[in-house]
Amino acid sequence: MLMSVFWFENSIEYNKESDAYFDIGSSKMVRGKRVGIVGAGNVGSTIAYSLAMLGACHEIILRDNKIEIAKGKALDMSQAAAAIRSHTVVSVAEKMSDLTDCDIVVITAGSPRLPGMSRDDLLMINANITREVIEGIAKYSPNAIVIMVSNPLDVMTYVALKESGFDRSRVMGMAGILDSSRMAAFIQEKLGYGGGQIRASVMGGHGDDMVPLSRYSTVAGVPLSDLLSAEEIEEILRRTRGGGAEIVALLQTGSAYYAPAKATVIMIDAILKDTKQIHPCAVYLEGEYGYTDVVSGVPVMLGANGVEKIIEMNLNDDEKAMFAKSCASVRSMIDVLNVNKFFQGV
Ligand code: 2OP
Repeated sequence: MLMSVFWFENSIEYNKESDAYFDIGSSKMVRGKRVGIVGAGNVGSTIAYSLAMLGACHEIILRDNKIEIAKGKALDMSQAAAAIRSHTVVSVAEKMSDLTDCDIVVITAGSPRLPGMSRDDLLMINANITREVIEGIAKYSPNAIVIMVSNPLDVMTYVALKESGFDRSRVMGMAGILDSSRMAAFIQEKLGYGGGQIRASVMGGHGDDMVPLSRYSTVAGVPLSDLLSAEEIEEILRRTRGGGAEIVALLQTGSAYYAPAKATVIMIDAILKDTKQIHPCAVYLEGEYGYTDVVSGVPVMLGANGVEKIIEMNLNDDEKAMFAKSCASVRSMIDVLNVNKFFQGV
């Protein structure tokens, strides 16, 4: 029931029950934006912090089974937001049913690979976690746009899409921005100049078979091949493909989180601001690039409705072959889920 607490121009009214403002004319909610983050580990909490510092949304809600830790982080971040005079508040959802009416939900929850666990075991465990989380999102934030961050990224995006029943425009995976940023950083390191002017392009799945596109990578518009030798470029591509593993080997106790978090925040910001800019994201393909029923990283236009357009680039034969290999490796993991009757609810 609408409560006439106060009015603005254009008939905007406050609804006390949902703590939100409505435009009476269109019945459209005009409350501040709310972003939910499932999993408050290193990646989830760095996304929250980075988002809070940006002031891109009004509310960030953390959801984690370790409730006290999540509450401590939320308090800490709210205080950081106050320090920069930001309006963003950070809170904790003690249950999935508290993660209501989010505009965007980011999923970072998942199990790391533990000793004795095969890749397939890990795949099944994380698919089950994703299913449980996405069921909650579909129920309590049914209009949300979902950004998947958990690994294996492309397959978890596929699971989130299938299990939510959402349109593919509302379910996407982070990683293309991360992998492209890694490639840009390696180019800058190799050149010793050009920082901030590098446009690196990576397509395909977020795995060993990702597809760094040197042909589409430039420094201030200058093609990479005019600046570096074929061997130097090959070294950058190899390092890009192993970018996550290089950090795992150095950290010893975990994986990267600053760049994965920033990449996610760039996607959130593009959606909340309806920028209509192009970013590489993992999406469900329905014929694009010749593939169907698989998720892979491709350039997409992000806007208020999520993935508003999938851009098809003209790939050469080598690039097509790399993309095919990458899609096949994602497909083989989907097949493992099918063999285990995952989508039949087993
Ligand atoms: C990364 O690439 C582990 O997917 C994560 O850093």
